[in-house]
Amino acid sequence: MIPWLFACALCFLVYLIAKSVDTVPSLRTVWMFNKLPGPNDLPFFFGSAWHLFRINMDDVFPYIQKRLAEFGGMYACYFMGLPTVICSDPEVIEAILTSNKNIDKGPEYKFIGRWLANGILLSTGEKWRQRRKMLTPSFHFKILEDGMGCMSRGWRKTLEVLLATKGQPVDLQPILGKGALDIICESAMGYVLEDNDDRSNEYVAAVKRATRDSTKRVYNPLLKSDFIFDLTPLSRSHAKDLGILHGFTGKIIRERKAAFDEEKQLEYSDADGKKRQVFLDTLLEMSKKENLNDNDIREEVDTFMFAGHDSTSTALQFLMMHLAENPEVQEKAYKEQQEIFGYSDRDPTKEDLSKMHYLDQVIKESLRLHPPAPSIAWLLCEDVQLPNGRIIPAGAKVLIYIILTHRNPKYWDDPDAFKPERFDPDLCKTRHPYSYIPFSAGPRNCIGQKFALLEMKIGVSTILRACKLTTTTNSRDLKYKMLIILQPSTPIKIAVFPRNK
Ligand code: HEM
Repeated sequence: MIPWLFACALCFLVYLIAKSVDTVPSLRTVWMFNKLPGPNDLPFFFGSAWHLFRINMDDVFPYIQKRLAEFGGMYACYFMGLPTVICSDPEVIEAILTSNKNIDKGPEYKFIGRWLANGILLSTGEKWRQRRKMLTPSFHFKILEDGMGCMSRGWRKTLEVLLATKGQPVDLQPILGKGALDIICESAMGYVLEDNDDRSNEYVAAVKRATRDSTKRVYNPLLKSDFIFDLTPLSRSHAKDLGILHGFTGKIIRERKAAFDEEKQLEYSDADGKKRQVFLDTLLEMSKKENLNDNDIREEVDTFMFAGHDSTSTALQFLMMHLAENPEVQEKAYKEQQEIFGYSDRDPTKEDLSKMHYLDQVIKESLRLHPPAPSIAWLLCEDVQLPNGRIIPAGAKVLIYIILTHRNPKYWDDPDAFKPERFDPDLCKTRHPYSYIPFSAGPRNCIGQKFALLEMKIGVSTILRACKLTTTTNSRDLKYKMLIILQPSTPIKIAVFPRNK
């Protein structure tokens, strides 16, 4: 009797796991896929995932980097039942990202679906096309310029918090996270967070936990099944975090909607007294024309709140680390600021920003070594022909390692060194355009790219003019967690000192 029960339980488990692998590859996919170069791992279900269970999760990047080097920038393997191509070769990446048809995200994205639902980051097909078209004008440069004052105000507040650390080495991520959240709340949602409002710290921490817990589901075959996941304590803590995240954005939407419905403030008046329409107003306005319901608005607000603060603050955290670790770069960047501002602490104007050529290069180099989105995944709906004649079949998953593409020794000399001069405009002309893709590329590139670069430049300019940064971290020794947004395995401690002017 007991062996039978055990056998039934095992069959049920296998059924749940197999069911959770939502795309069962066709025979054609498997046939064509098996012609691609790759290691001779276990076939099918676990495939290369088997190795990942044996190594420490913090060592996944070096492990994949080694394998990519072995196979020349691309290899094929089975990962939890799914034929998966892993790549860091710009030629392959170009073939994938330039397609207008292959716009479906990989199956792992569904684990953040309880949080971001079917917003622009996760949606596909006609729905994604319509949303992209509808939301793109909100990120027009002219609109972004109008929000510069709000960005400066936000980073000034962050600067005060940084100076209050009085030279003690601290983890800057939560401080920068709150700063970037304040900015996206005010500039895109028209919602000003009070300085002592603790909900923003709660939101930033809940984002980190929610992305960490969703990633656990990618690597644990048991947790892939919703049925099994919902029986675990992890599901309960995840639900609590989702309550915090949705509660926060729900309040923002309700308040803005009430104001919008009363038609009192269709145009948001910011602290400078300037009138402007924010992203959420555009969404509310569109909800009438395009028939968007409350859930449609919620999923976009959740998506932009997450994408709009976590990646930018992560980028700034690594940028601060590189400046602190390379005093000569920090001094050169500071000198450039002095040439533009003297000792003034005024807000940067559009003209000031256009003169920050060296800072541009520093930001680009930091995004090369530490792109906040280290990898992105696609599920192919049509075959992709590679320049070498090989074909990646429809039904396969493609995992693009942005971080390893940026360190591919075939395209970058001394790839692990921090050298902003690499981004001298003349040198950039000769580089493969898909060897540097911190914001992805093609039709599904980052919609907030200009916003992010503007916000980062204003942030660094504000901080660099007032502070000197030091660290004992050696970035070459860093290990990283396998998460949606790049995170060091141990916090990076940076000391902030006021500059003696
Ligand atoms: C340094 C900061 C940022 C970096 C490095 C970055 C990077 C990226 C990358 C790599 C993607 C593609 C993701 C994928 O294919 O899975 C993406 C998509 C996206 N990003 Fe960003 N991002 C940044 C900041 C922002 C900001 C500030 C916003 C909003 C204000 C934003 C909104 C989005 C959205 C909505 C998408 C999905 C676009 C689509 O699928 O059509 N991002 N970002």
